[in-house]
Amino acid sequence: MEKEVETAIVTGASRGIGKAIAFELAQNGFNVVISDIEKTDGCEENIENIDELGREAIFVKADVSDRDQVEDMVEKTIEEFGRVDVLVNNAGINIDKMLTNMAPEQWQKVIDVDLTGVFNCTQAVLPHMIQQGGGKIVNISSMSALDGTPGQANYASAKGGVISFTKTIAMEYAQHNIICNAIAPGFIKTRMTDEMPPGLFRNRLKENPLGRRGKPEEVAKLVSFLVTEGDYITGQLININAGEYI
Ligand SMILES: NC(=O)c1ccc[n+]([C@@H]2O[C@H](COP(=O)([O-])OP(=O)(O)OC[C@H]3O[C@@H](n4cnc5c(N)ncnc54)[C@H](O)[C@@H]3O)[C@@H](O)[C@H]2O)c1
Repeated sequence: MEKEVETAIVTGASRGIGKAIAFELAQNGFNVVISDIEKTDGCEENIENIDELGREAIFVKADVSDRDQVEDMVEKTIEEFGRVDVLVNNAGINIDKMLTNMAPEQWQKVIDVDLTGVFNCTQAVLPHMIQQGGGKIVNISSMSALDGTPGQANYASAKGGVISFTKTIAMEYAQHNIICNAIAPGFIKTRMTDEMPPGLFRNRLKENPLGRRGKPEEVAKLVSFLVTEGDYITGQLININAGEYI
């Protein structure tokens, strides 16, 4: 009997790192749910490119911080593909302010999307993965969780929480053959870093041992490795940062 095509959900996959992950997973044989709060930059083209690979991709609009929308998104995945084998919690935002200038709403918004969003999506897929006998979850954290970047108390706290969450979920659900890891990217070429103040941008490049931003595709390859080859890797944080933080 032919093996059923596996399904991956990638959140925040309309553009940037998530978009590259969706394509890379499709190249590795997955049908993909491209989920995002909005459909942006080349999302439709990505779906067409995945189609050309002979895989299916659908766009499902969902705000990861909204539990009802997340549950609907997972339901839509099951309706469309009948299964969910991989979840990549990639959606994320930053609202950078020094702490004395950070409004409580700016703190809360980043926590809601970057940390509670990971909780919401993971909780929504777990019953399906348990029922299927396993699954793989990759959470996109950040180097900011580790290196104390000024102006990112909200973002760093959320991304640090993602690392602790990852380790806990790995331990809680190993018994169900569910693998859960986190990735901490450094300085990657996406809209998030395009929008940095020019002075900060130049300093980051100077500090980068390889002297360049990483490509979203380079992060996507690491996610894909964990998902396709990482059967004995769980509860780990894997850095991808050109040696900027070791
Ligand atoms: N670019 C970097 O240098 C870098 C470094 C470390 C970590 N990261 C992390 O990588 C992930 C992807 O970031 P990126 O650089 O591609 O940024 P990006 O801004 O290009 O993409 C983020 C995506 O998330 C979506 N999104 C935002 N809020 C959402 C919500 N509430 N619900 C669903 N989707 C939402 C956006 O619409 C967008 O498509 C983020 O978690 C980010 O924190 C990025």
